[in-house]
Amino acid sequence: MTRHRLVMSQNTANQQPPEEPILVQKSTAQVHAAQELEIQEPSTHQSTAQQPSPSALSNQQLTMEALANQVTGCTATSQQSTSPDSRQQIVNNQNIDADEDFQDEAYASSVNSSSLTSIASDVRRGVEENGRLYPSYGRNTYGMPVDEQELDRNDLQHAKFLLLLRDRLCLAPIDPSPTRILDVGTGTGIWAMDMGDVFPSAEVIGTDIAPVQPTWVPPNVQFVVEDAEDDWTFTPGTFNLVFGRELFMAIRDWPRFMSQAHTALKPGGWLELSASYPRTHCDDGSLDLKTSFYAQSVEIYYEIAAAMGTSLEAPRSWAQQMRDAGFVDVRERIFKMPMGPWAKDKRLKSIGVFELAQLNAGYEGYLLRGWTQALNRAADDLRILISEGRLEVNNPRHHTYCHL
Ligand SMILES: C[S@@+](CC[C@H](N)C(=O)[O-])C[C@H]1O[C@@H](n2cnc3c(N)ncnc32)[C@H](O)[C@@H]1O
Repeated sequence: MTRHRLVMSQNTANQQPPEEPILVQKSTAQVHAAQELEIQEPSTHQSTAQQPSPSALSNQQLTMEALANQVTGCTATSQQSTSPDSRQQIVNNQNIDADEDFQDEAYASSVNSSSLTSIASDVRRGVEENGRLYPSYGRNTYGMPVDEQELDRNDLQHAKFLLLLRDRLCLAPIDPSPTRILDVGTGTGIWAMDMGDVFPSAEVIGTDIAPVQPTWVPPNVQFVVEDAEDDWTFTPGTFNLVFGRELFMAIRDWPRFMSQAHTALKPGGWLELSASYPRTHCDDGSLDLKTSFYAQSVEIYYEIAAAMGTSLEAPRSWAQQMRDAGFVDVRERIFKMPMGPWAKDKRLKSIGVFELAQLNAGYEGYLLRGWTQALNRAADDLRILISEGRLEVNNPRHHTYCHL
């Protein structure tokens, strides 16, 4: 499904104005893909220290193609001079050309060793439902599984983000020598560990309701079982960056989340949020979305998420909610993401490959719990719908994309 990403800065009124452009945000809305991200790159705020280089990242995440080692564009804006509208950027606002020649090619038991982590065995075990494993910790029901299949999907998604962001781990122009970074809903912890490698000066903390992170981690990285919907326990004003990526069906009260992030950040710190916007698009009519099984399943996904109190529309409100929480220099960036390898552009093709791979791995996981619990329907019925939808999105003649 899609993704869409949003970055914010904290920059409280009394902070020093940053030398570099401030915020970036990307979000829902409509995007046009193509040869994208570098489009609007006004003044480069290319602080090497804040742009992880490919060599600094895990090699296995970068095997699809060589990536340009440059910053994705984030337009500079000062709080005073920028109107809210100008802070929203459609990053890749061109049609995606299809590759006409293309032929179809075809709960971890580990518990982290952080002294901050204290979990009971039932939290480690999780809860099994319909053959999938879900977290047993947390005040609310999380809609996605946390088993091996889902963790594999998370890692595929991480690789896709690296391609999309041209090898950057985040867009926020954080201090080159950060001291504390928080990754809320860290999942496999892959982003947190990469950040720990790239920023050895920083203590990187990854939180999650599921203890699915590896035991052996860089010395400056730790994982904590913590529910982001609870009161945050971190010392206020200590983080350079609070990061949250793909928190689908995880957070209900986003204004509270923003407020807690604002409190946790240092003056001048940044909040960066990313999320997919799964609604499917097809510009050339190669897939009729009115009759599409896949499009139907996406609508069900929206229905399920809304029923669980975690609307997929939430990212559309993030920018304003951030401003309401006291953030300044809020920027929104929107990416258009092909689903599958149908794009002519090599890099978009690679992104599409990862997108489709993560979708294939996650299709059932997105829907199963909500389908059975919120809609009270039989798991097997969902599996039939998914098998039809899967055929559609795996057909490279169907030029579908979504927004991230
Ligand atoms: C889709 S995964 C994304 C993982 C990671 N951010 C990434 O981009 O690879 C969402 C993660 O959020 C965690 N999560 C869900 N609800 C949460 C909550 N209320 N507090 C903390 N973590 C939560 C889930 O257990 C899961 O690991």
